[in-house]
Amino acid sequence: MSKLFVPLVLLAELLGLVSCILIGLWMGRYLGGFAWDGSSQEFNLHPLLMTVSMVFLYGNATMIYRIFTGVDVPRIAVKATHAGALLLATIMMSVGLTAVFQNHNANGIPNLYSLHSWLGITTVSMFLLQLVLGLGIFLLPFASSQLRASYLSSHVFFGIAILSMAAATCLIGILEKIMFSGIKYSDLPAPAIIANAAGLTIVGFVITVAYILTTNKAASSPNRNYSNLH
Ligand code: HEM
Repeated sequence: MSKLFVPLVLLAELLGLVSCILIGLWMGRYLGGFAWDGSSQEFNLHPLLMTVSMVFLYGNATMIYRIFTGVDVPRIAVKATHAGALLLATIMMSVGLTAVFQNHNANGIPNLYSLHSWLGITTVSMFLLQLVLGLGIFLLPFASSQLRASYLSSHVFFGIAILSMAAATCLIGILEKIMFSGIKYSDLPAPAIIANAAGLTIVGFVITVAYILTTNKAASSPNRNYSNLH
């Protein structure tokens, strides 16, 4: 394990947490706060819950096996943490999507017209497919060790791809929301600075997570005994 591993994980956590805090601050302080009544305050739950679930929690779930490689923690605890983070992400993502659809329906706004929404639905669908395949191949006892071994590199690749797609979806969503919110963007008022910084920290988080996943190969080494991988 590289000497940089722990500092990189701490950097990823810092960037991920700051991005969630900035989105929460933008929605909570500058765009009217949160509610569950179809209003724009219900919309405000969407960016916050989507960033926390599809970026921060999902990114952490992908790193869990690397973080616990070589650490004396029972394999079952690592599996449970991975599955728990993904379950929580799925629940928060479902609430975040419900919030935006309810807000659109309550205000007569068309559904699924934008690039953001198309990319978002594609990302969420791939996330759910990855979840089902991961569960079926790694968690349930039916798959052979050969199947597990051959699927692992695709699972890791698509984990990074889906996380990158989630980040891209967030960036387009942030830009849309800045444009819709009626501020003069070019004057760079406080909410615009916060939104820009949120976008940058999301990108920094995903790059750091991708670096950790692709440079610390312990969990996907070709010499590994795949029969007890998951
Ligand atoms: C991975 C994360 C995200 C996903 C999967 C996602 C998905 C979606 C979907 C499917 C819609 C369409 C809802 C409808 O048509 O009724 C939507 C709308 C919207 N989202 Fe997101 N979103 C994400 C993150 C964000 C973030 C971080 C923001 C930042 C402010 C944001 C801002 C918006 C806005 C402004 C709309 C309304 C305009 C439109 O339909 O494009 N989203 N989102």
